[in-house]
Amino acid sequence: MDKFIIQKSSLKGEIKIGGSKNASLPIMAATLLTDEECRISGVPGLVDVRTMIKILEVLGKDIDFDKGVLTIKSKNKRNYVTPYRLVRTMRASFCVLGPLLARRKKAKVSLPGGCVIGVRPVNLHIKGLKELGAKITIQEGYCIAEAKRLRGKHIFLGGPFGSSVLATANVLMAAVLAKGETIIEYAACEPEISDLALFLKRMGARIEGEGTPLIRVKGVSSLGGADFKVIADRIEAGTFIAVSLATHSNLIISGANPFHLTSVIEVARKMGANIEYKDSKIYVRPKRVLNPVNITTLPYPGFPTDLQAQFMVCLCLAGGLSLVTEKIYPDRFMHVAELNRMGAHIQRSGPYAIIEGRRKLFGAEVMASDLRASAALVAAGLVAEGKTEILRIYHIDRGYERLEDKLKVLGAKIKREEQ
Ligand code: EPU
Repeated sequence: MDKFIIQKSSLKGEIKIGGSKNASLPIMAATLLTDEECRISGVPGLVDVRTMIKILEVLGKDIDFDKGVLTIKSKNKRNYVTPYRLVRTMRASFCVLGPLLARRKKAKVSLPGGCVIGVRPVNLHIKGLKELGAKITIQEGYCIAEAKRLRGKHIFLGGPFGSSVLATANVLMAAVLAKGETIIEYAACEPEISDLALFLKRMGARIEGEGTPLIRVKGVSSLGGADFKVIADRIEAGTFIAVSLATHSNLIISGANPFHLTSVIEVARKMGANIEYKDSKIYVRPKRVLNPVNITTLPYPGFPTDLQAQFMVCLCLAGGLSLVTEKIYPDRFMHVAELNRMGAHIQRSGPYAIIEGRRKLFGAEVMASDLRASAALVAAGLVAEGKTEILRIYHIDRGYERLEDKLKVLGAKIKREEQ
């Protein structure tokens, strides 16, 4: 297991954003809907992508992954079982359920269980697929789904925390091969869902309304192969905006779509950053003392929960009190205790965190708990006095490709060592 050793750094320069993890994973799962070859480019070389490759291989795909390009062919299409040993390492594995069911009429996928950011149920996935006509049972920790032919339906997919990204992906992937019309109401509007819909359309699916809460699908009898490039990772881009603000560094973030980051740019501007964008480059120039702000995480186009931890680091340094309200995962605050160990003053109560700004952070040995919390600790380490050691950084490798190399190019003092 590796760790990062980080010293206070001032950064400068341009950073190129990679392809989106959360767009790549469901798009990879969607290749189960066809036996024809698919070519997906711009895919980041992450641990989670490699896990999805292993899952697709178990399910009978033959995969080549070279320089961000996945070539996915079919070799044996009989298997429909996705084992616990793979699903437990990555919850997104559950989104093979919809395409397996639609194409192979049967799916047995391990239930993912809880994780460090909360309970994370899958009831909406199951509800949506049942409404399309699947017979679903839970046996020995597995979700077993069967249907001779799914049938289109008007489905309300909202839950207590609003829309669900991967439930929308699962139901959408099942609906494209269902008989008749499906309407998904309260669909997730995230750009990753729009990207999935574009890929499915490239395969021959008939979909309208992606990117809005009402998606309309007209089922087709089969889908073909497709050649596709995934969108840039808005969360990686937003993480670099947070790093820029925390370290008072002028950064140019290239390759990301600023229109996928409107709520984030709005918050950064309120904090006093000057942000402009032109020709797929985002120019971030933060001011010396950041303004405190209140942030509420919400489904897209609201402020993403996946950037809450990274922006909390900036709020620790701002000139006053800030309030963070976590409306997607009320328990996603594992970073709070670690930031407090570095000198932050954050009080958490339920889904709220009150952050007292004007703090100086100090290096410490800290523990990475989940992907985004780990990225927050990296940002904190870059601004803290002295040395920060971040243990268990395998979480970072799940979602950030060569993070330390990208930061080094900007002048960061960061190195990876064996723990
Ligand atoms: N929810 C339910 N029932 C369900 C599904 C979800 O109540 O059946 C609840 C969740 O507990 C949560 C809310 O709905 O309160 C939204 O969760 P969602 O289902 O949208 O999350 P997800 O699809 O499992 C994706 C991302 C997460 C990201 C969330 C929210 C992928 C692979 N994962 O998860 O990304 O935090 O959407 O935007 O796309 C990450 O990249 O670090 C990460 C955790």
